[in-house]
Amino acid sequence: MSERNLVFDADVNRYGTDSLKFDHATRRGKPEGLLSYWVADMDFKISSYIQDAIRETVDHGIYGYTEPKERYFVAVSDWMKTRHGFEPREESLVVTPGVVFALAHCVRAFTAPGDAVLIQQPVYYPFSEVIRDNDRRLVSSDLVLGDDRRYHIDFDDFERKVVDFNVKLFLLCSPHNPGGRVWTRAELERLGEICLAHDVVVVSDEIHHDIVFSGTHTVFETISPEFASRCATCTSASKTFNIAGLQVANIFVSDSKLRSSLKREVAASGYSQPNAVGLAATRAAYENGEEWQTAMLKYLKGNLDFAVDFVESKIPFATTIRNEGTYLLWINLRESGWSDDELEHIVVDEAKLWLDGGRMFGDAGSGFQRLNFACSRSYLAQGLERLRVAITAASARKTV
Ligand SMILES: Cc1ncc(COP(=O)(O)O)c(C=O)c1O
Repeated sequence: MSERNLVFDADVNRYGTDSLKFDHATRRGKPEGLLSYWVADMDFKISSYIQDAIRETVDHGIYGYTEPKERYFVAVSDWMKTRHGFEPREESLVVTPGVVFALAHCVRAFTAPGDAVLIQQPVYYPFSEVIRDNDRRLVSSDLVLGDDRRYHIDFDDFERKVVDFNVKLFLLCSPHNPGGRVWTRAELERLGEICLAHDVVVVSDEIHHDIVFSGTHTVFETISPEFASRCATCTSASKTFNIAGLQVANIFVSDSKLRSSLKREVAASGYSQPNAVGLAATRAAYENGEEWQTAMLKYLKGNLDFAVDFVESKIPFATTIRNEGTYLLWINLRESGWSDDELEHIVVDEAKLWLDGGRMFGDAGSGFQRLNFACSRSYLAQGLERLRVAITAASARKTV
């Protein structure tokens, strides 16, 4: 048997499926009729292996309580080992209905109300939400955008903030969304050393670990046993294989005390068994999804090159950061001098696009827009052309 579904260039109509990306504009305060490039899922049909596994579950016709067993763990851990040199122990696995769910529960498990939790903005907005919603204090050591168009860590600032605010927990985004960085081993090592020295627990969100275009993803906890003993590693097949709606995430916590606190928090929220269809899909993805994933990544790289070239050569004021990973393009429009509200107006009302405005990712995201390029190249080209036309017109108004 081999993969039957390696078509990424088709425009799949997602309207009418209740898709968050396409069917919820009005509910989310946007006008109808926008082309949509915001939430991070892909417009690609999934691997035929996953589709078959789901079909098998459907054909069986019973969806009772289900828990993963050895075969599930072997599929997940083989992928981690082969792709990322990460060999988790079976008892370290905690399955949750999503990575954000896990982040929130880690915040509750590893800190007390009022404690400081550190993040690196601009960063995926649920990072700040799970801190604030749980009455913890948000501290950001903002990333610094270099002349090389890559984000960098100000390690002195990071350590100062850890000490000054008595930080208890660090939510690491690796690879970084929306910064597009695939952190080097040396960078992660330095962050980890600071956290160890000040007894800061690290929750490493590695959900984008398979979407890497340059550099090599390093699983934070593989760097040293000491790092592993003060860390939770959050993964899921959802980004890699486009199965976010199936709600399964694999969280690895090596340390038994940390793991017990996390499990207690998860149990306290009333969550017990994972989604049976999601488990079947995740297992199939890791057992047989390699061919699809390799082809998908190649297609995404083509989209990335296309988008970067288009933005930089055709859209006034716009530059992109150097995307090492994730399918999210972070477009820098600061040179335009437009406020975030003005930018939002140009993007939504004039270009008729649904992107994510940079301010959602923290003040450090001001002047940026995030565009999801996991779609067909023609759909991507349409969106970029709309952006070009609207920004060109707005910049002409500006100079009149
Ligand atoms: C860094 C990061 N973490 C977590 C998520 C969402 O994870 P989940 O759907 O499993 O909660 C995303 C989705 O965009 C993400 O970019």
